[in-house]
Amino acid sequence: MNKTKILHLLADGEFHSGQKIGAVLGITRSAVWKILNELPKEYGVSVYRVRGKGYRLAMPLSLFSMNLLNEKISDNIYFRESIDSTNTESFRLLADAIDIPPYLVISEMQTFGHGRRGRLWVSPYGQNIYVSYLIRVAEVKQLEALSLVVGIAVLNVLKKYGLADVGVKWPNDLIVKDKKISGILLELRGDLLDMCHIVIGVGINLNMYQSDEIDQEWTSFYKETGAFVDRNLFLIDLVSELKNVLDLHRKSGFKVFRTVWEKNHAWEGKEVILSSVNSNIIGTALGVSDEGELRLLVNGEERLFSGGELSLRLFDDIKS
Ligand code: BTN
Repeated sequence: MNKTKILHLLADGEFHSGQKIGAVLGITRSAVWKILNELPKEYGVSVYRVRGKGYRLAMPLSLFSMNLLNEKISDNIYFRESIDSTNTESFRLLADAIDIPPYLVISEMQTFGHGRRGRLWVSPYGQNIYVSYLIRVAEVKQLEALSLVVGIAVLNVLKKYGLADVGVKWPNDLIVKDKKISGILLELRGDLLDMCHIVIGVGINLNMYQSDEIDQEWTSFYKETGAFVDRNLFLIDLVSELKNVLDLHRKSGFKVFRTVWEKNHAWEGKEVILSSVNSNIIGTALGVSDEGELRLLVNGEERLFSGGELSLRLFDDIKS
């Protein structure tokens, strides 16, 4: 497809003349111009034109190379240039019996990326990681604190790439100085007593430098470090780390991850509010239990909480 071919040509962030682009694609300069005019609307990218120099993107993009990813990752990968949500696509593939899990779905952008509690996950073209890993659930124990374990995989890779300040927030966020950098969404299909599948959806803000659409404090690897990440290398490391932690989790449960989770707990000892649909509990965050439940000190007593629809905020944030 010519549009994505042009995006790949422009991904280096350098100027490319309309004539050259046309020659590479075997189309006229006016056809190139027409396509370039459509890119901002369709892919959300900004294209600059300078007379005598040609066209360039506002920022370079690190786009996926399926040759490299297929060489380095043993699971089947379903690549989409644009999709509503990689999680939704994973389940569509399952419903159509396209493959036998585990498999991965990745996309350069999502038009309806979503998070917990119906929130939108802003997913611009070629800037971040949007990946879903669909696995079969053999036993209920495999689900124990799963999002916390996935969080550790993401944490390890972000740290490996040099982001020292990143921490985990119960149950499924990664934050840097209280700003969200990554979110995890687990979705389940089937019957736990019979055939059941879970999709592990991970969004990580890597090279995103600005967004007016996100309705919470956010950051990205680029904003924190000023460095651009090669998304191919990052994804290869992420999938490898994810498989390592999932293996260990299957064998030993969450308890072997507890120490590392608590060591990286961003809100350890902080005053927090735990909200559900109809209640708010104020307490001090203590960490997690061997089963991954949140440990909160409430009125001098330690209490445990679990459940997908709970969310945590800093107490200070609602006072201000
Ligand atoms: C959250 O913070 O509430 C979870 C965000 C999860 C976003 C990822 S991006 C890949 C996958 N596809 C989706 O639609 N959501 C997850």
